[in-house]
Amino acid sequence: MTNQDQRKPVMAVVGAGPGIGEAVARRFASEGFAVALLARTEDKLRDMANGINADYGERTAQYFVTDLRVEDTVIASFGKIRKELGPVQVLVYNAGARRVNGRSILDTTSEEFENFTKINLFGAFWSTKQVLPDMLAASKGTIIFTGATGSIRGNPGLSSFSPGKFGLRSLAQIITREYQAQGIHAAHILVDAPVDGKLIGGWSRRKWAKEGEDQKLADIDAFLMQPADLAHSYWFLHTQPRSAWTHEIDVRPQKESMFSKL
Ligand SMILES: NC(=O)c1ccc[n+]([C@@H]2O[C@H](COP(=O)([O-])OP(=O)(O)OC[C@H]3O[C@@H](n4cnc5c(N)ncnc54)[C@H](OP(=O)(O)O)[C@@H]3O)[C@@H](O)[C@H]2O)c1
Repeated sequence: MTNQDQRKPVMAVVGAGPGIGEAVARRFASEGFAVALLARTEDKLRDMANGINADYGERTAQYFVTDLRVEDTVIASFGKIRKELGPVQVLVYNAGARRVNGRSILDTTSEEFENFTKINLFGAFWSTKQVLPDMLAASKGTIIFTGATGSIRGNPGLSSFSPGKFGLRSLAQIITREYQAQGIHAAHILVDAPVDGKLIGGWSRRKWAKEGEDQKLADIDAFLMQPADLAHSYWFLHTQPRSAWTHEIDVRPQKESMFSKL
């Protein structure tokens, strides 16, 4: 056996934050994957990688500081991943950018529209281009994109968010149509609810506390999606047998209504 053969399979979480990103990385690490964590903030990435390595073994996680709005940094990071960890077998594109309190089109700057669309869509296109050649050479690979309600609903206030998310969904379909026959399983996960992370989860919890919605706070996983629970869906998609591949799933907690919110 060569060193190459002894390497763990590699997955990359592009947009690795403390919510869905870390939960998915941890789920794959627990299944024996080496995980590459990509985001902009080095301190957060270092802490995340250290935590995963403490739980799943040294060098299970490595981080790569990347700004997904800049194609050159995406190319550079995937070049390093390939060299240091090996070819990527599973790509999870999880980065997303939106305002919690949306703005109308007239109040949205072109700069915000461009910046957010680069994060929501362009980064996925660039990342996919970086991993596809190795996946095609191996005749297998999984590409999963994280979507949102805004991927299928153009609601008010989301002009700098939804267009990119709609595009991301379409890109997942195009990957499927172009490369599924060659062994690439592409899937889109429509996350149709607030996630219990720092930003949206924290905002929801504060709002409910202020409004005296104690029953929601006491029954939190019926209202807010738990990242670790959601991570099962990513693993489920990756491990589906090829005679029954799913291209898209939607997920929400028990007491969330379907496709309705802003
Ligand atoms: N949170 C929710 O309630 C919710 C609901 C529905 C759908 N979603 C979807 O879920 C995904 C995010 O999951 P999450 O909210 O749990 O977040 P998360 O995984 O905790 O973090 C995502 C990370 O993406 C990184 N990122 C953002 N812009 C980037 C850029 N330009 N370059 C590199 N990295 C970048 C950020 O790190 P840096 O700032 O360090 O770069 C951020 O920490 C998004 O696709 C979002 O649309 C979220």
